[in-house]
Amino acid sequence: MREYPVQYAAVRKPKPDPSTLVFGKTFTDHMFLMDYTAGQGWHDGRIVPYAPLSLDPSAMVFHYAQEVFEGLKAYRNPQGGVQLFRPMENVKRINASCARMCIPPLPEEDALAAIRQLVGLERDWVPDQPGTSLYIRPFIIATTPSLGVHAAHNYIFCIICCPVGAYYAEGINPVRIYVESEDVRAVRGGTGYTKCGGNYAASIRAGERAEAAGYAQVLWLDGVHRKYIEEVGSMNVLFKVDGAVITPALTGSVLPGITRKSCLELLKSWDVPVEERLITAEELFAAAGAGKLEEAFGSGTAAVVSPIGEMGWEDRHVVVNGGKIGPLTQKLYDTLTGIQWGTQPDPFGWVVPVD
Ligand code: COI
Repeated sequence: MREYPVQYAAVRKPKPDPSTLVFGKTFTDHMFLMDYTAGQGWHDGRIVPYAPLSLDPSAMVFHYAQEVFEGLKAYRNPQGGVQLFRPMENVKRINASCARMCIPPLPEEDALAAIRQLVGLERDWVPDQPGTSLYIRPFIIATTPSLGVHAAHNYIFCIICCPVGAYYAEGINPVRIYVESEDVRAVRGGTGYTKCGGNYAASIRAGERAEAAGYAQVLWLDGVHRKYIEEVGSMNVLFKVDGAVITPALTGSVLPGITRKSCLELLKSWDVPVEERLITAEELFAAAGAGKLEEAFGSGTAAVVSPIGEMGWEDRHVVVNGGKIGPLTQKLYDTLTGIQWGTQPDPFGWVVPVD
């Protein structure tokens, strides 16, 4: 495996109390950097002390948002080792995002080696309290100083890490989500299936409105018909209706979530009927009205498996499973986190040890 040069941080930061971790606020001592120059390709991969980046104010990322990112986690297993969950899926997905955003793809093995080496160096930052992990944020930004609207000639690939607890203040307790009828997050042919900052920038206004109304996140409808369910703010969404698990099909405007994919693979291995298809909000609320909406949950790297206890849509309101986590959601959460934290067997070979 490729090994990158390391410039060690002279001063190490104090580690936060693992019982008070807030998502994405504390960063480790080092970060990974690699440059891209047109004609030269990706070069000069290195680990350096965590520090601000210095960029020209005309760097293209600031103006036209040519950037992509990923999110994955490192977990402390019961033997004290550190392991990753399906990291090659993230590498492949960042390259799929790059293809859409005209960013040169990363050499896959080199990107994986960078993640493993950085996490190995930061292994003392991987917390060991239940439910905690080290969140890894790889991202690529366009750095060419130019205001012309074109693909850049220069990029930086950077990886930063932060110890995290639960993404939602609610933890594993069910969250309230609101079906957004006005703003849309993405349209087919756009960038909805990529992890690019612009998708999230477009989501902030509706997210703020939902929060002000007491909801944790927004449930997005498709941008054309405004009736098909797509995804929730920071996670994919799945519903158990009349015994089957249904989830929006990956039509191009939905993020192909790695946790989503893992949930579907687990459900199929348990012989739970699974349907990936178009789902209208009307169908969902009608199913709830008929007592057939048994469970609802989101899936994502940050959110893991997060039960949905209530849904609002204009003047309609439904409570799912009495506002409590359902048995299938709980089983998925337990199995997935058991594999991720190494407390359960890994029959699919999803776990990659760091050292
Ligand atoms: C993740 O789950 O890793 C994400 O990237 C969602 C996020 C925007 C917090």
